[in-house]
Amino acid sequence: MKNFLLEQGVDTKLLKEVDKFLNFYEIDESLKYRIPKPKYHYYGKEIWERSIAGILSGNHILLEGPKATGKNVLSENLAYLFKRPLWTISLNINSDPSSLIGSDTFKNGEVTLKRGPVYDAGLYGGFAVFDEINMAKSEALSVVHSALDYRRIIDVPGYDRLKLHEATRYIATMNYGYVGTRDLNEALVSRFLVINMPIIEREDLIKLLEENTHLNKDYSLLFAQLFLDLQKKSLNSEISSKACDLRGLIDAINLMEIGLPLRASLEMGLADKTFDIYEKEIVMDVVTTLFSSNVNLGDLFAK
Ligand SMILES: Nc1ncnc2c1ncn2[C@@H]1O[C@H](COP(=O)(O)OP(=O)(O)OP(=O)(O)O)[C@@H](O)[C@H]1O
Ligand SMILES: [Mg+2]
Repeated sequence: MKNFLLEQGVDTKLLKEVDKFLNFYEIDESLKYRIPKPKYHYYGKEIWERSIAGILSGNHILLEGPKATGKNVLSENLAYLFKRPLWTISLNINSDPSSLIGSDTFKNGEVTLKRGPVYDAGLYGGFAVFDEINMAKSEALSVVHSALDYRRIIDVPGYDRLKLHEATRYIATMNYGYVGTRDLNEALVSRFLVINMPIIEREDLIKLLEENTHLNKDYSLLFAQLFLDLQKKSLNSEISSKACDLRGLIDAINLMEIGLPLRASLEMGLADKTFDIYEKEIVMDVVTTLFSSNVNLGDLFAK
């Protein structure tokens, strides 16, 4: 991981501070299984530096950006870099305080607290992700306000108050303006440092494709170009953002590797994510411009 970050050009001073953090905070053997082993590296030097600095400064961070900009990938990468156990909480309209903090339960005839993920992360010095935080009702989240500000406490009525472990950090993710989301309460946002997640840059996208697929160099360039062309069309409002989906592009390339033809794979991963036939046509026209109609799958992948 360190080598990857150096290659990305992440400031070495920050990385030295990360080492200090690692030497200072130990982790319980029984929780090591919760340190994620990320499937993808997060690409983007700026964002790495901002998020590392945010965490080192003791703050919680809110990752805001469009779909498939690597918000969850970055969260896992951060927990891995800082060697902290990770809890993930998927928020939705029904999330309530007990699903975050915990609830009463009977054990051996006594009422005890069945701890929720926010509590566990606070107890063990973990990182916890509030995934899609703007899907939840703000009343549900008000119970974590005291955990997120300088007080760093979780107070559950009827139980002792928990002072958060010093290594505990909360990371929230959100897509602003997505269907089903609501505006985040100002008091809640105020408790996070906010990081705007950009769309991956061309050079990083090529590296990502080279690292995560078996495409050869020429085709990594072409598929990166495809994504960038679609993104441009989406920014110009020629198409919606539905087919402009990096997750879908990687999935499509995996389909091709299994042996599904190029156009079928790109339809499944990208074009058919829009249900508008005109938009589909535009997407497939971009594909036609970049790839010849008789491309041989064998040529795509490095031997
Ligand atoms: N900068 C990046 N570095 C690495 N991977 C990226 C980056 N941007 C997008 N991806 C890729 O996009 C895909 C989706 O990543 P992830 O699930 O983290 O996105 P997200 O921002 O949480 O999306 P959503 O808002 O839809 O939940 C993954 O395949 C990931 O590898
Ligand atoms: Mg996500």
